Amino acid sequence: MSSDKITELKEEIAGYKIADSDGLEQFRIKYLGSKNVLKDLFGEIKNIPPDQKKSFGEKVNELKQLAEVKFEEHKNSLGSINQTGEKNIDLTLPGDYVKIGSRHPVSIVRNKVIEIFSRIGFLVAEGPEIEDDWHNFTALNTPPEHPARDMTDTFYVQINPDVVLRSQTSTVQVRTMGKQKPPIRIIAPGRVYRNETISYKHHVYFHQVEGLYINKEVSFADLKQTLYYFIKEFFGNDFNIRFRPSYFPFTEPSAELDIRHKDSNKWLEILGCGMVHPNVLTNCGINPDEYRGFAFGMGIERLAMLKYGIKDIRTLYENDVRVLQQFASEL
Ligand code: DAH
Repeated sequence: MSSDKITELKEEIAGYKIADSDGLEQFRIKYLGSKNVLKDLFGEIKNIPPDQKKSFGEKVNELKQLAEVKFEEHKNSLGSINQTGEKNIDLTLPGDYVKIGSRHPVSIVRNKVIEIFSRIGFLVAEGPEIEDDWHNFTALNTPPEHPARDMTDTFYVQINPDVVLRSQTSTVQVRTMGKQKPPIRIIAPGRVYRNETISYKHHVYFHQVEGLYINKEVSFADLKQTLYYFIKEFFGNDFNIRFRPSYFPFTEPSAELDIRHKDSNKWLEILGCGMVHPNVLTNCGINPDEYRGFAFGMGIERLAMLKYGIKDIRTLYENDVRVLQQFASEL
């Protein structure tokens, strides 16, 4: 009786048609699942006369193997079943083309500036974008009523005029000197805000990199040499440089740096700089009789526009993929 059942099941398994993955799953549940039909046969072993037990057991095992082999064969030929239920995945097909993004030119330039200055020992420092009057102005030798406050149109938080969106990364000079002892050698890249009318050359927010070096013996020659080095590394050898006297409340003397391509006769202003004003050192708890320093600040968008020939600053914020993807090869 039981061996008839075995023969019957053997034929059933051999003839079972598996057309697709659903069929395969049904087959698995029926013959190999936790409540499979073969289990009943194993249960019958106890009713078999002792001398036949062994061969009966072997036959049931063969049956089980038959089901397992059939299952494996079909599983392989049907391919793996993925989560979306798709079948028959052809692994030899070419992959889907995935578009990868590119870094924004502002990020590329910022990283490049950091890299160039880090080679000569400048560390990156940061400060908040929402600032108070002290860090944005007063500590930088620009007390209330100082005419230099008009140099930038600052965004004030109306209900609390002590809170501003920083208008310059020079704030990070104050923050760093407040918590670090000299020697200090930092650059501070970051976003700044100004209440400007948006045009091809102005935007209400943009980015600057501030530089600050404080030590016992620091001269204007050190400042010049550092900036010569930077310009050469950033723009290459085809540019001429000139320093022009200027005014900033937090430096004395102050200068602006202009660059000119050797084939052009047009000078372009690129950064402001100078020797840190003794009042600024005092405001930040550093003794100006003991320490001196130089500082500089430049606009990242300015650098990017010059380097890549971008004529309108707004181009940098429209995020037109046709523009941005041109920078895909840069890091
Ligand atoms: N903070 C100035 C600006 O936003 C730029 C600047 C000029 C920074 C001279 C400096 C500096 O550190 O020494 O226009």
